Amino acid sequence: MMPRSYNIEDLRLAARRRLPRGIFDFIDRGTEDETALRRNRAVFEHLRIVPRVMVDVQSRRSDALVLGKHQTMPIVIAPAGPAGFFWYQGELALARAAASVGVPYTVSTYAMTSLEDIVATGADVWMQLYLWNDRAISHALARRAAQLGVSVLLLTVDTPVLGRREYLAQNGFAPPFKANWRAMLDMCLHPRWLTQVPVRYALTRTWPRLVHIPPECRDNDPRVGLTQALTWDDVTHLRDLWHGKLVLKGILHAQDAARAVALGVDGIVASNHGARNFDAGTSPMDVLADIVSAAGTAQVLVDSGIRRGSDIIKALALGAKAVLVGRAPLYGVAVAGEAGARRALELLREELDTSMALAGCVRVDDISADLVRTVVP
Ligand SMILES: Cc1cc2nc3c(=O)[nH]c(=O)nc-3n(C[C@H](O)[C@H](O)[C@H](O)COP(=O)(O)O)c2cc1C
Repeated sequence: MMPRSYNIEDLRLAARRRLPRGIFDFIDRGTEDETALRRNRAVFEHLRIVPRVMVDVQSRRSDALVLGKHQTMPIVIAPAGPAGFFWYQGELALARAAASVGVPYTVSTYAMTSLEDIVATGADVWMQLYLWNDRAISHALARRAAQLGVSVLLLTVDTPVLGRREYLAQNGFAPPFKANWRAMLDMCLHPRWLTQVPVRYALTRTWPRLVHIPPECRDNDPRVGLTQALTWDDVTHLRDLWHGKLVLKGILHAQDAARAVALGVDGIVASNHGARNFDAGTSPMDVLADIVSAAGTAQVLVDSGIRRGSDIIKALALGAKAVLVGRAPLYGVAVAGEAGARRALELLREELDTSMALAGCVRVDDISADLVRTVVP
């Protein structure tokens, strides 16, 4: 049953009711004092659109050309492992929702459904890669994606260590997760989630796991620990290995953007990982214009804090070609699987369409820098 939802916040509140607190917080929260999380929203609120009038907007369209491919709107579903905890086979639900509205879906390295099964949904699949200590295992995953026809590889570069997610320990969900009474009670108090997610996995004997970690590497094997030694040499190596579009996700400094482009990357995602890593770090929207000018002909995408269609206009006005959305479709999938994720995407599309009309834009290419002003609160 799909609850009534008129905006992403409605889906968020419905997800909060449905999920155990530990799991909802894992999607929703930031790190340390959560200043970055608040800033990710504030930066959009302080940026105002200065609309144009006397424009015939009857035939407006929101389709966009992103990394050489047409999509129905300038949105990509961001990588978010492990969606299989939020909904039974959550990644398949997200991929199908993305396919049904005509936008790409990015598979996380930490997905719980195999890349092969996700590609089989027919979605336009992008692959996100974390580099592990054993580079050969990560490179094998990239080659596997290439063989499956995945056209975009998104290397996440902003996570040498995990940010301090204090709430995980508070909720009894801190890694390495072990059964504890707080987490168990939390799950039992959410019987809809319990029966529709873990019980379903148990009945189908498919207990979710991080399927892209090779089976011989279980139990915190250091070979598949996130590398703390990611350098530009890794980018050079991947550029040789990967012949499709290569995108770096998690760039915030213009000099890093310039360096990436000099090494031949095709795109950059300006991102602070949805405020899940560095609480003292800047918001990508604060530095987007600098990154766009440093990136030259490479396309710049942005994420972190997108909750409204008008946010997309603001991002495009500062030079982004598209936005990634992380939590918005996750709230939807947690509430009603594929239908919920589709609802999230449709809400964003409807809001984008309304905002384009009110701003006086007929095509996404009409969205230009003069349409936005920053106001001091
Ligand atoms: C639950 C969750 C899991 C995530 N997992 C990954 C991941 O595996 N790889 C990655 O590069 N980013 C990951 N991210 C970050 C997103 O890709 C994206 O950068 C962020 O969610 C965008 O901010 P937003 O949630 O405000 O839209 C995750 C985000 C969430 C909420």
